[in-house]
Amino acid sequence: MSGERRPPSETTAAGYFGGMVDSYDSLIRRAVPSYEEMTARLLDYLPADAARVLELGCGTGNLSLALAARYPRAAFTFVDAAPEMLEVTRDRLERAYPAAERRSEFVLGRFEELALSAAAFDLSTSSISLHHVVDKGAVYRALFGALAPSSAFCFADQLGGGTEAVHEINWKRWLEFCREPGNCSEAEIESLLEHAAAHDHYTPLREHIRLLEAAGFRSVDCVWRNWIWGIVTAER
Ligand SMILES: C[S@@+](CC[C@H](N)C(=O)[O-])C[C@H]1O[C@@H](n2cnc3c(N)ncnc32)[C@H](O)[C@@H]1O
Repeated sequence: MSGERRPPSETTAAGYFGGMVDSYDSLIRRAVPSYEEMTARLLDYLPADAARVLELGCGTGNLSLALAARYPRAAFTFVDAAPEMLEVTRDRLERAYPAAERRSEFVLGRFEELALSAAAFDLSTSSISLHHVVDKGAVYRALFGALAPSSAFCFADQLGGGTEAVHEINWKRWLEFCREPGNCSEAEIESLLEHAAAHDHYTPLREHIRLLEAAGFRSVDCVWRNWIWGIVTAER
């Protein structure tokens, strides 16, 4: 499998995240309500076994390390378009799960441009990364082809509201959370809002379901939701 080696710039979502490797782990917990709970719930709904695992958007490796613990014999492919993020994940894995790191491939590339081999994975997963993709249908079709029969695709992400009014309420509650004492500064909120306006593409749940089913996935479900954030599970 190979990803196009295009260095991210600050004009891309990956460029934004690549420039904040040191602050990411603190910021994400202050800017995403229930970040830890969401990751724990995502793990709840992953299959009991998976020999070949693909993670899209590993970031600093928070889900990646949990995957290494969950699947101690699996081979992993971690994808991110920010080289700085891939390096952090590799370092953390090397220290915490050296055997898993040796069975891991770290792919620098955009989800939209991956050359995925057919039936190469038993599980594809992702946490708050896919909302950076405009054409989710194309990515879902590529993932369907890259997954083996009877495998799973489960992801946590930021979803659009079912109506504009619902999205507005979710957005308002998110900003209130950011402004709670100890969470984000106004400068951080401004930066998050600029990033969202430039790079985020929120897709409502029913559109995710339609695109996943059109790609061939079945038993699509939303197993957890908290305002903008949701967990979607699908079977291949
Ligand atoms: C919000 S972070 C999520 C990181 C981690 N999964 C977590 O839950 O904390 C999103 C990650 O996706 C990567 N990313 C965003 N858009 C991408 C794209 N189109 N292709 C590949 N990586 C992308 C960013 O570089 C970043 O590391």
